[in-house]
Amino acid sequence: MGSSMCLFIPILLPFFLLMSDFLNTCSSFSTQPLCSESESLALLQFKQSFKINVSDSHNPFAYPKVSSWNSGKNNDCCSWDGVLCDRGTGHVIGLDLSSSYLYGSINSSSSLFHLVHLQELNLAHNNFKDSQIPPSIRYLSNLTHLNLSYSSFSGQVPPEILELSKLVPHILANLSSLMYLRLESCGLYGEFPTEVFKLPKLQSLYVGYNQKLTGYLPEFNSSSPLRFLSLANSSFSGFIPTSLGHLSNLIYLSLGSNNFGGQIPFSLANLTQLIWLDLSFNAFNPQTLSWLGKQTKLTYLNLQYINSNGDIPSSLKNLTQLTVLFLGGNQLTGQIPSWLVNFTHLTRLCLYDNNFSGLVNFGLFLKLENLSFLYLSNVHLSFPINSTFNTNIPKLHLLALVACNLTEFPIFLRYQHELEYLHLWKNKIHGQIPKWIFNVGKETLELLDLSHNFLTGFESFNHTPLVLPWASLLYLILDSNKLHGSLPVPPPSILFYSVKQNTLTGEISPLFCYLSSIDYLDLSHNNLSGMLPQCLSNLSTLLSLNLQKNNFHGTLPTTYREGCSLKFMDVSYNQLEGQVTRSLSNCKMLEILLLGNNRFIDIFPSWLGKLQMLRALSLRSNSFHGAIGKPKSNLEFPKLQIIDVSHNKFTGIETEYEKIQDFLIVVDLSNNRFEGEISEGIGNLKGLHLLNLSNNILTGRIPFSLGNLSELEALDLSKNQLSGEIPQQLLQLTFLEVFNVSNNNLTGPIPQGQQFSTFENNSYLGNTRLCGSPLTKKCNIPETSTQPPLISKQGEDSKFPSKSDWVVIMMGYGSGLIIGFIIGHNLSIRELEQFAKKFGRRRYK
Ligand SMILES: *[C@@H]1O[C@H](CO)[C@@H](O)[C@H](O)[C@H]1NC(C)=O
Ligand SMILES: *[C@@H]1O[C@H](CO)[C@@H](O)[C@H](O)[C@H]1NC(C)=O
Ligand SMILES: *[C@@H]1O[C@H](CO)[C@@H](O)[C@H](O)[C@H]1NC(C)=O
Ligand SMILES: *[C@@H]1O[C@H](CO)[C@@H](O)[C@H](O)[C@H]1NC(C)=O
Ligand SMILES: *[C@@H]1O[C@H](CO)[C@@H](O)[C@H](O)[C@H]1NC(C)=O
Ligand SMILES: *[C@@H]1O[C@H](CO)[C@@H](O)[C@H](O)[C@H]1NC(C)=O
Ligand SMILES: *[C@@H]1O[C@H](CO)[C@@H](O)[C@H](O)[C@H]1NC(C)=O
Ligand SMILES: *[C@@H]1O[C@H](CO)[C@@H](O)[C@H](O)[C@H]1NC(C)=O
Ligand SMILES: *[C@@H]1O[C@H](CO)[C@@H](O)[C@H](O)[C@H]1NC(C)=O
Ligand SMILES: *[C@@H]1O[C@H](CO)[C@@H](O)[C@H](O)[C@H]1NC(C)=O
Ligand SMILES: *[C@@H]1O[C@H](CO)[C@@H](O)[C@H](O)[C@H]1NC(C)=O
Ligand SMILES: *[C@@H]1O[C@H](CO)[C@@H](O)[C@H](O)[C@H]1NC(C)=O
Repeated sequence: MGSSMCLFIPILLPFFLLMSDFLNTCSSFSTQPLCSESESLALLQFKQSFKINVSDSHNPFAYPKVSSWNSGKNNDCCSWDGVLCDRGTGHVIGLDLSSSYLYGSINSSSSLFHLVHLQELNLAHNNFKDSQIPPSIRYLSNLTHLNLSYSSFSGQVPPEILELSKLVPHILANLSSLMYLRLESCGLYGEFPTEVFKLPKLQSLYVGYNQKLTGYLPEFNSSSPLRFLSLANSSFSGFIPTSLGHLSNLIYLSLGSNNFGGQIPFSLANLTQLIWLDLSFNAFNPQTLSWLGKQTKLTYLNLQYINSNGDIPSSLKNLTQLTVLFLGGNQLTGQIPSWLVNFTHLTRLCLYDNNFSGLVNFGLFLKLENLSFLYLSNVHLSFPINSTFNTNIPKLHLLALVACNLTEFPIFLRYQHELEYLHLWKNKIHGQIPKWIFNVGKETLELLDLSHNFLTGFESFNHTPLVLPWASLLYLILDSNKLHGSLPVPPPSILFYSVKQNTLTGEISPLFCYLSSIDYLDLSHNNLSGMLPQCLSNLSTLLSLNLQKNNFHGTLPTTYREGCSLKFMDVSYNQLEGQVTRSLSNCKMLEILLLGNNRFIDIFPSWLGKLQMLRALSLRSNSFHGAIGKPKSNLEFPKLQIIDVSHNKFTGIETEYEKIQDFLIVVDLSNNRFEGEISEGIGNLKGLHLLNLSNNILTGRIPFSLGNLSELEALDLSKNQLSGEIPQQLLQLTFLEVFNVSNNNLTGPIPQGQQFSTFENNSYLGNTRLCGSPLTKKCNIPETSTQPPLISKQGEDSKFPSKSDWVVIMMGYGSGLIIGFIIGHNLSIRELEQFAKKFGRRRYK
């Protein structure tokens, strides 16, 4: 609460803190225990901080109450004028100094705030000389009544006032004169008092952008004078009451991004004065937009993601004043209506993510002269063939034509000199990118997304390297095309550059060294080759580097310095060799380091253990060797969740780690030369989803404690020399989808039931003495006789065992972790969706 971001708008105090009259007879409460010395002193100090200025009140009943206060004989403050004490404790719980000719300023160090037992405080009708209400008001946490009307406070009401939890519901609900209340973006939380909606004089209520603020809409009274109602971006829920349609004065209604459900009431049709309507991003039931049409004064209409279906009704024809129309993210069908051409004031139009049918002539949009923002997706478009367009076509700033089956760049783009954002992804644009595209938003273009097309390269640029000319370009996304030839060099302004999944060849130009702002570089899945330029390790702004699946050779660049900001680095699937550069230890922010499938020859990089943020490390399929050593510092990979050292030449398992993370989720130690027994301590890795120890030289029994790894989805112990029975405890693993113990020396009955009924023969092959389903060999002994009881052994062996217990994993999980910092980019929503799909928890039941 009360962050400095709070957008307090100055409030007219006379309206704001008006409270009922109270304590008007307080001088009669005089038969009480003596007040404490400290409270008495606080009151006297408070008195002394003011002058008495008789010229200052127009109230005929005003008199200087504090003049009777003194430290002499009568020093029981409970008997002083305006002071009310608790009968039991003697604490000062009420102070009424209204109309007392007080003249002076008040600040946070005022002794008033020592009176922490105060429940009621009335300072109305004095002159506090335009003081601000001091934030120390928060110390009076038991206040239930506060009256500061006509007291010449000024400035903003401090957010701290909202900490007065006993006050807030009353303060707001009792404000029978309140006309205007604005509490947006104040970090309010808890349930908003519904009484506030019903304040008889309230005309404007803005409580949006408080994401933890919950609440419901009440039944509204048709006599309510509400004109502005904004709850956007908060957590209100429940239904929109039909009676909202009775608020005939409403001109501004913003309920966007809340959790409202149910039907949108048809009564909203009666809100004919509305100028602004935002119901977007709520979980309403599917219904048509037939309640729209009479709100002909609307200039702003945002109905994105409200689950609407059916056609766009022709009643909307009349909303010709609209400047903004957002209908994206619904299930609207039918044609995009041609009468939109009459919405001549439109500046922004979003119709993406619907199920429109039919062919739309794009000329329709070109007639909307004021249009600056157009977002369409999955619409079948035809383009006017005119080779010259008249000068009245709109000057677009954002154009998104996504998944529209475009086969070429629309010619009208040639005349778009002010474009800032151009999204043409997921179309079928073939061949070369025409030269004229360089003039599109030459000075203005910030984002160009041509990904998921069939583009082969840039037209007639034979000289290499090609340096792209857009002077303001920040984001360039050319993923998943058929680009070949050399790697285009983005302009120095670039922040985000991705050309993954093309067939580019040649080396990374040294011109990349001049990309002094770049934070995201993805060249993965191409045929790039050569050595990595040394300067790559000097790009101090770079957060994410992905070079996966190319043909780079040579060593990693070696000059990572103090202050390196790299968080993600994936160079896997290349032919890199030599040692892992020790300078990477300067990249203190590194979270994910994927070095797999190269030709590194090195010992285990235990020096990475001091990287506090490292969450995923893959050394898979290289020539790492030796025993996995204990890091010199005792930091020991404090955040590691994924470790994959499989397919190397690691040996030994003696090293013991004293501190081990219980949030490892993937551990892959397969295909090494680890030997010895698997410790029961492995059961402490509670967060493990995948454990692969296959193809080593492990001996002894399968630990019972594996049954404690309740999140485990995949367990592979195949190709070892494990013996004994498969523990019945594994029946507790209800998410287990993959189980492989083949090619060991296991004996006895296979556990039956639960997940085990889903595993087939090949999970058990090569263990000649195993018996029971799914194998054909029957068991002679009763199935549970030789097993310990199904009781967790957890805790008995808390010492973490061997390094094999904490090692490595699947690359796929690795890219999931990129979410955290990719989110900083506006355009990553698509990628986030993809990640979410890929990594959403699959549950096996
Ligand atoms: C605030 O105090 C003044 C003076 O005692 C009183 O006239 C007024 O009614 C009070 N306001 C409210 C809302 O209680
Ligand atoms: C203020 O609200 C409280 C609780 O709703 C109520 O008990 C009290 O009577 C109200 N006071 C006035 C002056 O309306
Ligand atoms: C607060 O006000 C008192 C007088 O009322 C004054 O002596 C003191 O300096 C003020 N403190 C600050 C921080 O302004
Ligand atoms: C009394 O208040 C008035 C304004 O309300 C001011 O002009 C005047 O200077 C004050 N008198 C004293 C003695 O401070
Ligand atoms: C505030 O009120 C609560 C409950 O009425 C009481 O227990 C507490 O002692 C009060 N705090 C002070 C500082 O008076
Ligand atoms: C609506 O408000 C008016 C005036 O404040 C009041 O007389 C009437 O009882 C209220 N109606 C309902 C249903 O609350
Ligand atoms: C709109 O208001 C009129 C007149 O008050 C009323 O008869 C009608 O039922 C209302 N329509 C809806 C859909 O609530
Ligand atoms: C559109 O407005 C005209 C005149 O203002 C009115 O006659 C017509 O009924 C309206 N159409 C719809 C569908 O509401
Ligand atoms: C646009 O409005 C004009 C005048 O109201 C009307 O004649 C014309 O049919 C409308 N155009 C479309 C496509 O509905
Ligand atoms: C694009 O083409 C595909 C395949 O021909 C088709 O299924 C889809 O409906 C088309 N989309 C649009 C918007 O025309
Ligand atoms: C295209 O050309 C036709 C005929 O010359 C003209 O009527 C129309 O307005 C032109 N369209 C645009 C968008 O310039
Ligand atoms: C398999 O286990 C049995 C005891 O269960 C042991 O006698 C035998 O040597 C083991 N075989 C191998 C190859 O480890």
